[in-house]
Amino acid sequence: MSETTVLTLVGSLRSGSINQKLAETAEAVAPSDVQVEIFEGLAEIPFYNEDIDVEGQVPAAAAKLREAAADADSLLLISPEYNGTMPAVLKNAIDWLSRPFGAGAVSGKPAAVIGTAFGQYGGVWAHDDARKSLGIAGAQVVEEAKLSVGGSLVRFAEIHPTDDAEVAADVTRVLRTLAEAAPAESAA
Ligand SMILES: Cc1cc2nc3c(=O)[nH]c(=O)nc-3n(C[C@H](O)[C@H](O)[C@H](O)COP(=O)(O)O)c2cc1C
Repeated sequence: MSETTVLTLVGSLRSGSINQKLAETAEAVAPSDVQVEIFEGLAEIPFYNEDIDVEGQVPAAAAKLREAAADADSLLLISPEYNGTMPAVLKNAIDWLSRPFGAGAVSGKPAAVIGTAFGQYGGVWAHDDARKSLGIAGAQVVEEAKLSVGGSLVRFAEIHPTDDAEVAADVTRVLRTLAEAAPAESAA
């Protein structure tokens, strides 16, 4: 069976992050032909700076992100909202993935954004901003693959999002939609 791979970037670094748990949900409920990989190491990536983005000398953590994104068929960003937009760690990742200009690891790559935040709209401003930024960075944003879950700290206070049937079904739908936009690895 042909398989598509989805590299997942989580916009919260805290140990108890609900968005990290949502990434675990994506791993758990992915369709059988979709493989989800959660990227580890976003916190180690320095702030984007053209002075250090030098061929052959790119910081190891940033190079690791670029390689992981290049190897994946698609990207899934999972994020809370911080002060009305995406957390800096996620924007930094997009910036690294956007260069070299026109040939960054996100170029033409299907990408989707989901997440949960405390507010009633579930971080939709952050998610819309991330989609806008990904599109400008060159990704093929899959607009229909979206999910913003409100009331994060209350809704998931007692349960893991994988055990929330509505959320689990929505995450499966997002992954299926994203996979349909991505060329399957072994399709020929
Ligand atoms: C610096 C900061 C800014 C925040 N700003 C917003 C916001 O603009 N909108 C919102 O809905 N929640 C906001 N929140 C609350 C987060 O959405 C909530 O804590 C969320 O669960 C964090 O995600 P995590 O559990 O994955 O760490 C903010 C939290 C922090 C720490």
